[in-house]
Amino acid sequence: MSSKVSVIGAGNVGATCAQRVAQGGYADVVLLDIVNGMPQGKSVDMMHSHPVVGSISNITGTNNYEDTAGSDVVVITSGSARKPGMDRRDLAFTNAEVIKSVVPQVLEHSPDCVIIMVTNPLDTMAYLALKLSNLPKNRVMGMSGVLDTARFRAIIAAELDVSVEDVSACILGAHGDTMAPIPRLTTVGCVPITELLSKEEIDRLVDRAVHSGAEIVSLLKNGSAFYAPGVSAAQMAEAVVLDSKRILPVAAYLEGEFGLSGIYLGVPAKVGARGVEQILEFELTADEKVALGKSAQTVRDLVTDLDLS
Ligand code: LAC
Repeated sequence: MSSKVSVIGAGNVGATCAQRVAQGGYADVVLLDIVNGMPQGKSVDMMHSHPVVGSISNITGTNNYEDTAGSDVVVITSGSARKPGMDRRDLAFTNAEVIKSVVPQVLEHSPDCVIIMVTNPLDTMAYLALKLSNLPKNRVMGMSGVLDTARFRAIIAAELDVSVEDVSACILGAHGDTMAPIPRLTTVGCVPITELLSKEEIDRLVDRAVHSGAEIVSLLKNGSAFYAPGVSAAQMAEAVVLDSKRILPVAAYLEGEFGLSGIYLGVPAKVGARGVEQILEFELTADEKVALGKSAQTVRDLVTDLDLS
C-alpha cells in the first residue's frame, strides 16, 4: 500500500486508532511502543481480524522508529492517561518529557509527515511538537474537536431520539473544562438546537459533553476514554491520507484567527494532504468571544507554566 500511518503509543487509544485506520484499508499502519512485545502482539492480533473485516492493510508492531520511516501521518498518543480526580493539566509535566523524546525520533525518519497530537493536555502538547519540530504550522495539529463534538452529537441524538448522523455540533477552544460549545451552530438536520431545546436543557447536555472525559475516567477508575478518542484521531489521519478536504474541528495553530495568536485551540479547519489547509473563521457573539478567550487563557497559562514559549 503506498500510504503509511504510524501510531506512536500502543496503549488503548493508540491501538484503537491503529485498528480503525487499518480497517479503513487506505494505508499500511505501524504501531510503535517502548514496551517490548506489546505493539507486536496487538498488531498480530489486528492482522488476524482482517480476513473477517475485509481489510488488505498491513500492520507492523515495533519498538524501533526505523519502521516508521516515510510515514505520511504520525499520530502521537504516548504518555500517561488520567486517573480519577486528575485534570488533563496534571499530566502536563510528565507528558511533555515524553513528547520531547518522541517528536525528534518521528521526524528523523518521517521528515515530511503530518503530526496528529493526541497526548494530553493536547493543545499544549501540539504547541510543544510544533516548537520541537520546526515544521510548518499546517503539519502539526491536535485531536480534540472531533472527539468533543462526537460526544456532544451522541448526547444530543440520545436526548432527541434522532440519528447521530443528522446531528452536527460546533465546539471551539481547548480540550478541557473551558471548551466552548456553540449551540446556535449545533444542528439537527438543518435546525439549530436552540430551536428545539430550552436553554436549561442545552446547558445540561453541554455540561455532560464537556465532562464526558471525566465521567469515563471515574467509571473506568484506572484509565481514560479510548474508543471515541482512537477513532477520532483515525478520522483525521484518513482525511490527510485521502486528501479529502474534510471540514473537521481540530486543534490548529492560530495566527490571528478568531482574534487569537501563538497558541493551539480547537477551530473548524479544512484537513487534507497538507494537514490543516485552511481555518474557517466566522463571527462570534460577544459571549462566545468571552468563552473562547477564557479557553485560550488556560492554554497560555499552561504553556507558561511549562516554560515552553
Ligand atoms: C478524554 C481524554 C482522551 O477526553 O482527553 O477522554
